Amino acid sequence: MEEQKQGTVRLLSGITAREALAILDERSQPFRRLMAFYRAAIMEVETKFNVLNAELSLQYERNPIETIKTRLKSINSIMDKLQRKNLPLTIEAVEQNIFDVAGIRVICSFPEDIYLLAEALLRQDDIVLLERKDYIQNPKESGYRSLHLLVETPIFLMHEKRPMKVEVQLRTIAMDFWASLEHKLRYKKQMPADAEAIGEELRICAQISAELDNRMQAVRKRIEAEME
Ligand code: GTP
Ligand code: MG
Repeated sequence: MEEQKQGTVRLLSGITAREALAILDERSQPFRRLMAFYRAAIMEVETKFNVLNAELSLQYERNPIETIKTRLKSINSIMDKLQRKNLPLTIEAVEQNIFDVAGIRVICSFPEDIYLLAEALLRQDDIVLLERKDYIQNPKESGYRSLHLLVETPIFLMHEKRPMKVEVQLRTIAMDFWASLEHKLRYKKQMPADAEAIGEELRICAQISAELDNRMQAVRKRIEAEME
């Protein structure tokens, strides 16, 4: 355990490099299989959003989705997270404790589109909602806003149907703009002396971006009302 914590690897002796590679390959196989399942789950959920977007653009002549970004957590990040949580480095520990291996971010045009899409997704009978965090109604201390859904979706393999967890983050362009820049700034190495003032400044920027969202949405409402 101690060895694992420090990230040190017990070295194999008395075997050739080719044999060592074969062992590594064999041992990592179940893990690579699991990652392929998560990749499949991302594809399933991404398709669901694309279908909804296509339907809404036909029906209402509007494309609620600007872009979809997907990401599979890297094996290194998964291992780091398991170690931080003091969990064993096993497939089971990943499935039972790491809920953001499969991530999908849906960037919407307007705040209302977020809820429209979230509800449409959650109405689907193969989607199970495990957790919902509404950081739009209740922004985080940092100012972060987005709607997070942890869902379970089945993937269909040759001989089994397997439920997989996917983390969905829904946000507007303005929320994404703020989150991307804040993330970049936060991960700069040195903490500045006036960290508190900077935090406050970022919270104000988040408020401004929320106001921008609301005003743009109000403009859309006015235009829609004219057209009716
Ligand atoms: P994790 O263990 O980090 O997953 O925390 P958690 O399970 O409490 O998840 P949470 O709902 O806080 O959301 C985690 C994800 O949301 C992060 O990986 C980011 O993508 C995003 N996020 C949450 N808070 C912030 C924030 O303050 N700034 C930015 N830029 N992104 C955030
Ligand atoms: Mg999380």
